[in-house]
Amino acid sequence: KGDPRLQAISNAIRVVPHFPKQGIMFQDITTLLLDHKAFKHTVDIFVDRYKDMDISVVAGVEARGFMFGPSIALAIGAKFVPLRKPKKLPGEVIAEAYELEYGRDCLEMHVGAVEAGERAIVIDDLVATGGTLSAAIRLLERVGAQVVECGCVIGLREVKGQLRLNGKPLYILVEPR
Ligand code: PRP
Repeated sequence: KGDPRLQAISNAIRVVPHFPKQGIMFQDITTLLLDHKAFKHTVDIFVDRYKDMDISVVAGVEARGFMFGPSIALAIGAKFVPLRKPKKLPGEVIAEAYELEYGRDCLEMHVGAVEAGERAIVIDDLVATGGTLSAAIRLLERVGAQVVECGCVIGLREVKGQLRLNGKPLYILVEPR
């Protein structure tokens, strides 16, 4: 982990204490998006990792996976597939629910967006419990895709290789500050 780009990425992420509620140290990637160099480093690192892995699907998780996924997809020559919160996609969908700290949420994917046998990665800004990424993996596996890895900009070191990620590898650039 001697890559100096990682420090630049970490420095560009603003930490906002007590947002959206008391006790949460919010990791704000909008400041990373404002910093052209750091934003480009972020995309480049994922592109270098995935470009020669025969990936045909980049699935991005709403909302912040949409800010990184499409750039990665274009650069590696893959399609981009949005995994959306309920009732946003107009076509036929499949859905997977996941647990939140309080209650449940759900991700949906268009039927027909991904075909059986395709090799996919899932991109999001941050992994905390891994519940969201697990739902994303289940969606892709239900249509017969192979999830090669999940890539996140920010993640706790401890979450690496966790069971909730269904045994799929997790690639994280930086830890929360
Ligand atoms: C955040 C984050 C991830 C998810 C990670 O999204 O962008 O998608 O939580 O949490 P987990 O690993 O515990 O599942 P959020 O649910 O706040 O949705 P939003 O991006 O639409 O605001």
